[in-house]
Amino acid sequence: MKLTAPPMGFNTWNTFGENINDELLRSTADKIIELGLKDIGYEYVVIDDCWAERSRDENGRLVPSREKFPNGIKAVADYIHSKGLKFGIYSCVGNRTCANYPGSLEHEFIDAETFAEWGVDYLKYDYCYKPISEQGHLLYKRMSLALANCGRDILFSACNWANDDSKCWMKSTGAHIWRMSGDVSDNWNSIANIYRQQIEMLPYNSTACINDMDMLVVGMNGKGNVGLGGCSEEEYKTHFAMWCLLGSPLMIGSDIREIDEKALGILKNKELIDICLDGRGCQPYKVDGGAAYDHITDVWVRHLENGDIAVAMFNMSDEEKNGIFQFVNAGINSSCGCVLDFCELYTGEEILGVRDELLTEPIPPHGCKIYRAKLRKA
Ligand code: GLA
Repeated sequence: MKLTAPPMGFNTWNTFGENINDELLRSTADKIIELGLKDIGYEYVVIDDCWAERSRDENGRLVPSREKFPNGIKAVADYIHSKGLKFGIYSCVGNRTCANYPGSLEHEFIDAETFAEWGVDYLKYDYCYKPISEQGHLLYKRMSLALANCGRDILFSACNWANDDSKCWMKSTGAHIWRMSGDVSDNWNSIANIYRQQIEMLPYNSTACINDMDMLVVGMNGKGNVGLGGCSEEEYKTHFAMWCLLGSPLMIGSDIREIDEKALGILKNKELIDICLDGRGCQPYKVDGGAAYDHITDVWVRHLENGDIAVAMFNMSDEEKNGIFQFVNAGINSSCGCVLDFCELYTGEEILGVRDELLTEPIPPHGCKIYRAKLRKA
């Protein structure tokens, strides 16, 4: 299958860890519909690690946990499909998963067949317990071939945290998306770290194999499996704007059944999601002049399919700073004969007809402003 944009959905890991079951998945799917999240693009409901029995059956097949999934996995997938959503599951290149359930090593083809029978649309494939004697790229290639030959379209989501120099080989494995950083946790430091890693990894991003910055923590408020500290509303907004601008998959990691209005507002920001999914798939670039200018914020530009540009200012510091966007850094100078109309995508604030070739805005600590700007004839 060909991926045309970063996938969006929900994954159990951030909040629920091993505390997953049939009822959680069904009620989450219901809530995705009820809250209008499906209408805005969140379509995959993904079970992460810990869904299986600790050992395979006598035929070498994976067995769903009898306690957590008494009706089996197919019943859950069928329910999710009946809501018009897609279903995802998790396995691992090693013979155990990261949480010590059976992994797919040397069972790749039989597992792909099982996943196809169950109606799986998305496989997250982790990197724990990789035998030293095996080459990581071959293990991803093997599962990729197993999926491509299982008779069902399955999105292949590799998760190897950029270990073993995978930036150089992941795109050749057939993975549609790949985790290029360690695990996110629900605090500002973690978000800032992943953001910095993504800056280094942007040259390795491709529309055929998208850099995955990990699941969203928006709305976790310090609760659940990776809820280590929590973030302020400002920080959640910056986090979501970063993932959208940088074109990461958008997998909700909070408990959708209990989500608060503010978090929901962030996750449902259609204008930001449009930037994330923009059909042109252009790489964003940083235009702030670098570390020499520590009185200003990080400033980014991304060229969009309809000729607009996205302009984002991220304040990574603990003090208020100015975001300064100089048009010339996007290639625009006075010879172009145009002015820019900016619309800030969280507040809707418009700054129209900017001609002085500079936009300067104060940005609060850990905060952001993110604009869609239209070029207009002066
Ligand atoms: C790894 C992955 C996480 C999650 C856990 C499950 O740490 O990076 O995203 O899937 O395994 O055990």
